[in-house]
Amino acid sequence: MKLTIIGTGYVGLVTGTCFAEAGHHVICVDKDAEKVKMLKAGGMPIYEPGLEELVKKNVAAGRLSFTSSTDEGVANSDVIFIAVPTPAHADGSVDLSFIESVSREIAGAMTAYKIVVDKSTVPVKTGEKVAETIKRYCKAKVDFDVVSNPEFLREGFAVDDFMKPDRVVIGVTSQRPVKAMQEVYAPYKAPIIVTDINSAELIKHAANSFLALKISYINAISILCERSGANVQEVANGMGMDVRIGRKFLDASLGFGGSCFPKDLSAFIQISETLGYDFNLLKEVQRINADQMDRFVKKILETLWVLKGKKLGVLGLAFKQNTDDVRMSPAIDLCQRLQKEGAALRVYDPQAMEKAKAVLKNVTYVEDMNAVAEGCDALIIATEWPEFKKLDLEKARKALTHPILFDGRNLFDPAEMEKLGFLYKSIGRGKA
Ligand code: UDX
Repeated sequence: MKLTIIGTGYVGLVTGTCFAEAGHHVICVDKDAEKVKMLKAGGMPIYEPGLEELVKKNVAAGRLSFTSSTDEGVANSDVIFIAVPTPAHADGSVDLSFIESVSREIAGAMTAYKIVVDKSTVPVKTGEKVAETIKRYCKAKVDFDVVSNPEFLREGFAVDDFMKPDRVVIGVTSQRPVKAMQEVYAPYKAPIIVTDINSAELIKHAANSFLALKISYINAISILCERSGANVQEVANGMGMDVRIGRKFLDASLGFGGSCFPKDLSAFIQISETLGYDFNLLKEVQRINADQMDRFVKKILETLWVLKGKKLGVLGLAFKQNTDDVRMSPAIDLCQRLQKEGAALRVYDPQAMEKAKAVLKNVTYVEDMNAVAEGCDALIIATEWPEFKKLDLEKARKALTHPILFDGRNLFDPAEMEKLGFLYKSIGRGKA
């Protein structure tokens, strides 16, 4: 099929590339001419495992191209996907100005029937607004259908998630676009749910808020574990074996971050308010998340007492493993709090150092994870990169002025760490 994707961010670029990989002909549109130039020259604006190879392969095969012209994209495709950012306003509500302007641009370029698919995360009832806008600005007065098709991609695993989705959600107002949408997704052999647009839009916010709730739930349990001497990983394993619960997203941590969960939670609370419902449960999810970071900083302060004049090593800057994304990263938040307390920082991340440099100043960026501990008073793990499990602990112990390790991601075994001579403090495992 001939598809156009508007927006080449994490979602748009992965979506376009994975559609091309499945055999569709895809045009990716971005109004940022520099980005388009970079992509045309074989450069990658983001790090996402497996993506670069797929972009190269599909460009070479003639199935994937880039342009900054929406008109070109609309003219040459049957289905147009909107994958532009939906950032948050200061009050947490969603800024839909990109969705609105792209809807107008599509409307202005349409000369025949098109299916306009919203992939960006939007408040329920946005599809209705998109349809109204297209109708208003469509000069040719042609038929069109608006479809909601939310993305469920995790950064760091986005290509895999796209190729093997648990489900594909398609929200429609008529049967006309259903066949084409089923064809678009046929190569992935995933269950396809066809529903109304409002339900499709709600599914996205409801799912992400539920996942955030799951993390806050286990983080609250981690407090009880610390107070009782239990182990949160054992509790999560025991809970997770109940198939109704599942083990995923039950890893206690210094809190969730990223460009989705915090934003989607705030948005969903706002959306609920607009609909006349006070979603207190989700406010508590936010509170537990903020509290988890406070407790971790407190743990560091209680152990090291005064941070002024002390040097700390921090492993991890990305908001989670497998990504270079530092937006709303708990690791960056932690670093900034430690700096405020007067600590000097030596930091390392396998992928996120370049992006971190724009937001985290006055720290020493170290190129080798095994060199971070050099001369530090303690080492801190802030992101769950699997390679941190291979840290040379013996070297770190000798390099630290005192062998203290704060683990915000529970990567090591407390008993082993004690045996190695570390004062080791993690999340929800034994008395903290
Ligand atoms: C999320 C959703 O998973 C995805 O379906 C959606 O469409 C976009 O938002 P993403 O933000 O890329 O994806 O990351 P995810 O893997 O969900 O992790 C989010 C945050 O939660 C990270 O900071 C991660 O470290 C944290 N997390 C995750 C935990 O603290 N514990 C867990 O058990 C799982």
